[in-house]
Amino acid sequence: MSHAEITLRESAPARLSMDEYWMPFTPNRDFKHEPKMVVRAEGMYLWNDRGERIIDGSSGLFCVNAGHGRREIAEAVGAQLRELDFIAPFTRGHPKQFQLAARVAELTPGDLNRIFFVNSGSEAVDTAMKVALAYHYARGHGGRNMFVSRERAYHGVNFGGVSLAGIVNNRRKFGPTLPGIAHMRHTHIKENFFTRGEGANGVELAEDLVRFINLYGAENIAACFVEPIAGSTGCLVPPKGYLKRLREICDANGILLVFDEVICGFGRTGSSFAAQSFGVMPDVMTMAKGITNGAQPMGAVAISERIHDTIMGAAAEGAIEFFHGDTYSGNPGPCAAGLAALDLYKKEGLFERGAALSPYFLDALWSLKDLAAVSDLRGYGMFAAIDIHAAGVPGSRGHALQKKLFDSGLHLKATGDCVIIAPPLIAEKAHIDAIVDILRKTLAAI
Ligand SMILES: Cc1ncc(COP(=O)(O)O)c(C=O)c1O
Repeated sequence: MSHAEITLRESAPARLSMDEYWMPFTPNRDFKHEPKMVVRAEGMYLWNDRGERIIDGSSGLFCVNAGHGRREIAEAVGAQLRELDFIAPFTRGHPKQFQLAARVAELTPGDLNRIFFVNSGSEAVDTAMKVALAYHYARGHGGRNMFVSRERAYHGVNFGGVSLAGIVNNRRKFGPTLPGIAHMRHTHIKENFFTRGEGANGVELAEDLVRFINLYGAENIAACFVEPIAGSTGCLVPPKGYLKRLREICDANGILLVFDEVICGFGRTGSSFAAQSFGVMPDVMTMAKGITNGAQPMGAVAISERIHDTIMGAAAEGAIEFFHGDTYSGNPGPCAAGLAALDLYKKEGLFERGAALSPYFLDALWSLKDLAAVSDLRGYGMFAAIDIHAAGVPGSRGHALQKKLFDSGLHLKATGDCVIIAPPLIAEKAHIDAIVDILRKTLAAI
């Protein structure tokens, strides 16, 4: 590749070499040919290096539920780093880990009150897999080491999550992945196209779990992992009754139900977590992103007291109960960011605000239904997706659309030929109107 360089067009122009940084989940050569640089963010907006304002329609990457540049979080992190920057997380603790765990447990449903901190959603998923295995092992069911997941699932980039993954490109070049993982069918079915909220059709897809139980034996299956709303693949809202049916099947067969709430958590669906929105209690829940409003890397796993106590009870007195963790588990800076973010969510009533704004948001998006380019619309809470008819190589039209939207002043996450809309929960109706206006004009022109 030839050397690429750009000049940032800020007040003090700076030359930047484009060669060294390898960007994640990005067509690097395309980006470096036509960079989309962001240099500042505040509230609902980003600014590019030309000083142009871009509305953030995807909360960054489903993280900044309280909007960008929150001073309260910055100050809390700064103060924390000045007071205590780092503490070895194994055999040493600091107060904010315990405070944040208690605050997260206030938000989680039922008895999901034991919180394990990690640094990302990917680590949360792999941790949840280990928790499930450790739980069954602790109660003498070590043979339960298979997992059930779903087509089109996204569970992060580590090998556990990649093995659970159902988005084909995220796994196909990385070998056979972990053995013993079966994928249920996804729930994106034609009968539910253009449905707002849960589709009336498709509850029977939950019976795929029964098929795996019949085929592999319940006594070999540790857990069933699902995103309550499959997010990264494009906001696949579950059919009515689907999650409840998975819960029943898991209960009847001693299988743990794990909700991956990395996107759904922290108000995206109108409640703290989608588990509450859909009225279905998982045994284990993963989260990340909104836990710090995106300001610091952090993930967490919420575990039921029953599972936690079983693992604790199986270890000898004084022994390490769970051989897992990392250097940055419960790192002071992210814990301070988490506490400040949860304070903002509460003080500003942002989860309730998202729930109240949802009908307006979904109405506005549904006004795009008749555009020729649109092939499906889906949405729930402050989370929605638009599929467009593919043209040429799958994903190429979606990628071009996402770039045109950015150039027109709207940042959205695209996956294949789909754009995902999930504005910060501080959005006003005027912001929704602005997002939909740019979408309408851009979709009409492709
Ligand atoms: C449902 C789900 N799980 C896991 C992850 C991975 O999170 P991270 O990118 O923080 O590793 C994501 C990321 O979008 C996600 O949506």
